[in-house]
Amino acid sequence: MRTYIAGTGSYTPDKILNNAYFEKIVDTSDEWIRTRSGIQERRIATDEQATSDLAFIAAQRALKSAGIKAKNLSAIIVGTATPDMPFPSTGCLLQKRLGAPPIMAFDISAGCTGFLYALGIGENFVMNGYENVLVIGADTLTRITDYTDRTTCVLFGDAAGAVVLKRGDSKSAILASHFASDGSSWELLHQPAGGSRMPASHETVDKRLHVIKMQGNEVFKLAVRAMCEAAAITLKKAKVSASQLKLLIPHQANIRIIEASAKRLHLPMDRVLVNIDRYGNTSTGTIPVALDEAVRTGRIDKGDLVLMVAFGAGFTWGGVLFRY
Ligand code: UT7
Repeated sequence: MRTYIAGTGSYTPDKILNNAYFEKIVDTSDEWIRTRSGIQERRIATDEQATSDLAFIAAQRALKSAGIKAKNLSAIIVGTATPDMPFPSTGCLLQKRLGAPPIMAFDISAGCTGFLYALGIGENFVMNGYENVLVIGADTLTRITDYTDRTTCVLFGDAAGAVVLKRGDSKSAILASHFASDGSSWELLHQPAGGSRMPASHETVDKRLHVIKMQGNEVFKLAVRAMCEAAAITLKKAKVSASQLKLLIPHQANIRIIEASAKRLHLPMDRVLVNIDRYGNTSTGTIPVALDEAVRTGRIDKGDLVLMVAFGAGFTWGGVLFRY
């Protein structure tokens, strides 16, 4: 018996911010953003929409795609760096809103690798007897974006994606995974204030400490190395070569990171899912949104091998290989 992905769903808000908008608010250009990041536009949650609102729609779509009702769920796991509030968890808010029974529900924090970490946790629960585990990646990074900082504000968008995990003995299965972290360079990507080290105060607000701080260039180098390592180890565990992959679904942080990773894996770009041009970096949302897109657009068929790899704040990284 193995765990397999029984259904996928995603949601991206309707409101679009294109690169021209950023030309008006910071010293940047459409050309710089396109060539340095690959982003053309990104989706932004409305003022009324919080992370759980995006996650709720993605979850409903995943449940529908899996053909199961919320009352049959046995766990809800949400990867997010931008929960609605520090507590209770987004998972608990969704338990109520979806109408699930009083099942285990929680959030995990692993930066942009949060969805893959949650998937790994979910797989373990399924293998230990839990039926129908809902795994979500949802973030509203634009709520913690500094729109006066040109080095970060052009990069981020909001999105949510979800999958339902089940146990079965068909060919569809999660085949291997690898997860890692290294906290030694955490300062390269973090949100300084709002936690117990630096609680919210007038000063933290005035000094703009409740927003993403990133040394992009340094993060870039670590990201390529870590995503390639995650890919190599995950493939090795399953004794699968990159050439056998139908599709690589990488975290969408930068088109140049994606292209460099594909090159090192000797994978042509037509076997790599890229949608950063339309959504930007949506943190834990990138991979489940891309996976749902791959399913809906027929980029993957039953039996295909798919590798997902991510890298994020922490630093964290990981890979999950599955047969669809
Ligand atoms: O999601 C989890 C992890 N996150 C990532 O993986 C993100 C990784 N990093 C990146 O994607 C890239 O490093 C960025 C897109 C953030 C930046 O691209 P870069 O090629 O690494 O640029 P840079 O930081 O080396 O900056 C090059 C120049 C600098 O100017 P000077 O010092 O050379 O005069 C920046 O000030 O580009 C400048 N710059 C900009 N110029 C116009 C930085 N941001 C902008 C901007 N518009 N928006």
